[in-house]
Amino acid sequence: MDERPSRSDESPVAMPLVPLRDIVVFPHTMVPFVVGRKPSLMAVEAALATGKKLFVSTQRDARQDAPAADDINAIGTVAAIVQHLKLPNGNVKLLVEGLHRARVLEIEEDRNGFLRVVLKNIERRVEAGPELQELMAKVSASFERFIKHSPGLPYETMLSTVRITDPGRLADTIAAHLPVGVEDKQALLESTLPKERLTEVARILDDEIEKMRVDKRIHNRVKKQMEKAQKEYYLNEKIKAIQQELGRKDDRVNEVDELRAKIAEARMPPEAKDKAIQELKRLEVMPPVSAEATVSRNYLEWLLAVPWARKSKELRDVKRAEQILNQDHYGLDKVKERILEFLAVRQLVKKPKGSILCLVGPPGVGKTSLARSIARATGRKFVRLSLGGVRDEAEIRGHRRTYIGAFPGQIVQMMRKAGTRNPVFLLDEVDKMASDFRGDPSAALLEVLDPEQNNSFLDHYLDPEYDLSDVMFIATANVLHTVPPALRDRMEVIRIAGYTLLEKMAIAQRYLVPKQVGEHGLDPQRVRFEDDAIREVVERYTREAGVRNLEREIASICRKLARKKVADGSQEAVELSAPRIVELLGVPRYPPPRATPREPEIGAVIGLAWTEHGGEILDVEATLMRGRGRLSLTGQLGEVMQESAQAAMSWIRSRAERLGIDPLFHRRWDVHVHLPEGAIPKDGPSAGIALATALVSLLAGVAVRQDVAMTGEITLRGKVLPIGGVKEKVLAAYRYGARTIVLPKENEKDLDEVPEDVRGQLEIRLVETMDEVLEVALAGELPAIELADADEGGKPRAAAPPGGPTAH
Ligand SMILES: Nc1ncnc2c1ncn2[C@@H]1O[C@H](COP(=O)(O)OP(=O)(O)OP(=O)(O)O)[C@@H](O)[C@H]1O
Ligand SMILES: [Mg+2]
Repeated sequence: MDERPSRSDESPVAMPLVPLRDIVVFPHTMVPFVVGRKPSLMAVEAALATGKKLFVSTQRDARQDAPAADDINAIGTVAAIVQHLKLPNGNVKLLVEGLHRARVLEIEEDRNGFLRVVLKNIERRVEAGPELQELMAKVSASFERFIKHSPGLPYETMLSTVRITDPGRLADTIAAHLPVGVEDKQALLESTLPKERLTEVARILDDEIEKMRVDKRIHNRVKKQMEKAQKEYYLNEKIKAIQQELGRKDDRVNEVDELRAKIAEARMPPEAKDKAIQELKRLEVMPPVSAEATVSRNYLEWLLAVPWARKSKELRDVKRAEQILNQDHYGLDKVKERILEFLAVRQLVKKPKGSILCLVGPPGVGKTSLARSIARATGRKFVRLSLGGVRDEAEIRGHRRTYIGAFPGQIVQMMRKAGTRNPVFLLDEVDKMASDFRGDPSAALLEVLDPEQNNSFLDHYLDPEYDLSDVMFIATANVLHTVPPALRDRMEVIRIAGYTLLEKMAIAQRYLVPKQVGEHGLDPQRVRFEDDAIREVVERYTREAGVRNLEREIASICRKLARKKVADGSQEAVELSAPRIVELLGVPRYPPPRATPREPEIGAVIGLAWTEHGGEILDVEATLMRGRGRLSLTGQLGEVMQESAQAAMSWIRSRAERLGIDPLFHRRWDVHVHLPEGAIPKDGPSAGIALATALVSLLAGVAVRQDVAMTGEITLRGKVLPIGGVKEKVLAAYRYGARTIVLPKENEKDLDEVPEDVRGQLEIRLVETMDEVLEVALAGELPAIELADADEGGKPRAAAPPGGPTAH
């Protein structure tokens, strides 16, 4: 390659021409390109065959496929082929090195179809004076900056320019990398004066750098703007979310206004109203989503929800009340009468003292449903609070608001539920209330029930006093003795004893059957229970004072009928007889009532008890063992009952001889008294005469009649004292099949309660002393014993082990 000034070689040369579409090859640069056009391939071949030199020049119009002589720039570059590579598709890849500028003098078509040119070298070289050197330094610096900002150009490109000392060559090297169009490059190629060319390159470089700088600025600005927009968007969204979370400001205002309006409407007493307004002011300044605000809002909600003024219009017509009570319940005449009296008094006296009804009786006798009926009869709402298991004062009276999650006590909660300030409020199962270290709930209840105090009932949560004086409280209990005495004193007790068979049959026919038949989707016109069927259910499938299980069994029968009806699709009328009941309910649970009572027995007595389930049979058994006069009692007997047994024993010992008993029996024998069904705790004094009778029978060896049932308390002197629950006990004895009943004389008045049909079938023996009891109960005479030598312990007949001797 000749790098000497081309001026020295000015003689024209001929060589093949390869027209270029869109590139300009500058001297001193290596350029790869692909040759594909036929004439060009021929030209390359010709070049390779001669001196490997060819002339490359750019077409004026890149789109032209077969450019003629006129279509090609007259100034181009003589280039040497450095590499050539035939591609599989016939094209050739060339790498050429630009040597020098040349101008076409002549152009002619070769016979092989390519163009051949005659050229004149027009490359000029100059020495770089100081001025040019300065320019070169500036251009180099610009180029360096340009490369730094052009991501496409490797830094090495710059290094290739560093050592160039020739201004024209520097210009060419840089020009090859300039991002300008083909025309501009061609212009640079045609600019033959190095200084001029270098100046032009400098200008283009500066332009490009400026462009890039502007680009970058714009880019940055755009970016910044976008970032800003994005930031604003993000913040806006966040604000929206926050506001949503907080409840919008205007929502807030609404809430407060709404509450204020509600407070105005609530017709609260002044104290409560002040409290509410004060709380609202507090709420207004609280952050709306704080826990504090929630507490405050809840409190206000409670204040507003409790009925301060609203009342149901009470029905005062006692006649109508009577009708309603009769509609809802069969029988219970005495109870209904008491209720009606009670209602009448309440009408006359505004706030009568002790005016809390307490319905006491075994389960399923209709206490709850009577209370409901009273509400209906008086036009009041009905709410029921079960006190069973309530053991904490706070359950009645609420927790102070300082507790997290505090809420009002049950009384206020129920009042809210009622929605009026004068409902019938049923305190169910007052006897099941417990008390422990957390405070006595009955003390709180006392305040609720006390007419002197309950116009200003204080709930710890609600705070302002609440007036309960318009509420009609009704309590229920199965037994009274577990109700705290102070509470008992406040209440007017109405006992509901339990039903006889006939009553149960009537209740079933009139209420339970129609109700259950209807509830099970059957036609009440087509389902009929014969009286015998009901009797069967009562006697063989239930044993209770009330009618709860009876109702349950009837429901069970209805379920079976309903299922059958669905299965067969039959519309037939059903007539239920006793045998049919057994078919439907399966094997009876209880034996039929005893027609023929058992034979008399020694040491066995039928006692009567009164539990919360109503009256019950209480079997008493006693037996003797060799020993030293110990009395053991088993079967979960309570303290009172044990004392009662001790008293019986003492009475016997004090009267041994007159009872035909060896006075020294206690030196030889231990006595064991057992009351079966040991799982059920038993207590109370009313088994006294039964215990005594069993012991006398055992020790004297005289059998006891098993068709006699008895109840009564015993004193040390053998007197018989009255007991409670006469009606229940009599009914239980009757259910069991006993036909003679021994009762304390003093209970005579209670016999009024026993339905006449039952009384007519019983022999009731009213007694005052144990002697009378024994007279009725023992199947034989007491033996007369001679007072034998006390020390050697004559042989009392009773001293034989139980089961041995029989009554003579
Ligand atoms: N005399 C009656 N007339 C009509 N239905 C009655 C009568 N007695 C009880 N019932 C019905 O018996 C069912 C049980 O009554 P309720 O639930 O009122 O018993 P309770 O005395 O409250 O029992 P507990 O002590 O178990 O709460 C109810 O369906 C009730 O309507
Ligand atoms: Mg009840």
